[in-house]
Amino acid sequence: MFIRECWYVAALSSELEGKPLSRQILGEHVAIYRTESGEVVAVADRCPHRGYPLSLGKVEGELLVCGYHGFTFDCSGSCVSVPGQDRIPTKADVRTYRVVEQGRWLWIWMGDGEADLTKLPETPWLVENPQWSSVTGYAKIDGSFDFLVDNLLDLSHETYLHNGSIGTPEVATTPIEVEVDDDAKVVRVFRHMDAVQCPPFYSKTTGLEGQVDRWQDIEYFPPGFYMLNARIAPVGQPPLADGSDDHAFHMKIFYGLTPASEGKVHDFWALARDFCVGDEEIDRFLEKMQASVVQEDVDALNILQARANESDTWSEVSIKIDRGGLAARRVLETMKQVQ
Ligand SMILES: [Fe+2]
Repeated sequence: MFIRECWYVAALSSELEGKPLSRQILGEHVAIYRTESGEVVAVADRCPHRGYPLSLGKVEGELLVCGYHGFTFDCSGSCVSVPGQDRIPTKADVRTYRVVEQGRWLWIWMGDGEADLTKLPETPWLVENPQWSSVTGYAKIDGSFDFLVDNLLDLSHETYLHNGSIGTPEVATTPIEVEVDDDAKVVRVFRHMDAVQCPPFYSKTTGLEGQVDRWQDIEYFPPGFYMLNARIAPVGQPPLADGSDDHAFHMKIFYGLTPASEGKVHDFWALARDFCVGDEEIDRFLEKMQASVVQEDVDALNILQARANESDTWSEVSIKIDRGGLAARRVLETMKQVQ
């Protein structure tokens, strides 16, 4: 069962050039495309005529033309032309979905009710911004949404699964703090590591060597948006009393978690940094490093799902590091109940 009345990331903006994109979201096939004027449109990926995927059609100006018999739709999903006759059947319109392009990510409202713009996560770091540079990417996981939530809320796995890039021994050994804001539906997990080894992911980008203070502050906005606020600073230099923190390097690591279908999830990611802004060499380095970190997670979650498919008698054991993940499960469960 999916949580529907909310926004999910549907695509990277960079995926919307050229042919329409086919993407399954919450079990529904959606065709997403950009018109000639730049508007982004999402429609049910099924022509009302014979059910052919509209994502296999083509965009002509502001119109989408089915690649099977040429049924043609405008941006509101209205069928404006069919072959061989002037009269257009009233049932020939196609369902549209509300989408909002916000910098590097495209968001989609999957609910039946009207799209609630007040619930749309704000991501100013992923739009043109002189203080921040960002890179982004995407992976598909043949593993359940719940596995990805668990993975992202418990970063102690970095020590073992991402050893050599972002994982150092202290990530697993440093205790976490967990906070749940039940009203706002936010789960926060804090891990502050002081005077620890700087992993290559950060040493190569910040230039800091040896020991650093490294903070990982997670904010998870269930179901579909996750932000890890990473802070890397010289040892013993916390933010000043007025909140300024100019001597530190900040990176925000975002995930858009979007269920594709039962047991499959889209993993959209982005990194934004407030240092080396505009440095394309750093962009490429981070893109490559993060893609390989994400691939390590993808491989692990695919294996977890394959094992889960084999057995229903097994049950898990939880420890203190799982408090963030368990809190997230509780919030997700509540959201499912109330919708
Ligand atoms: Fe990971």
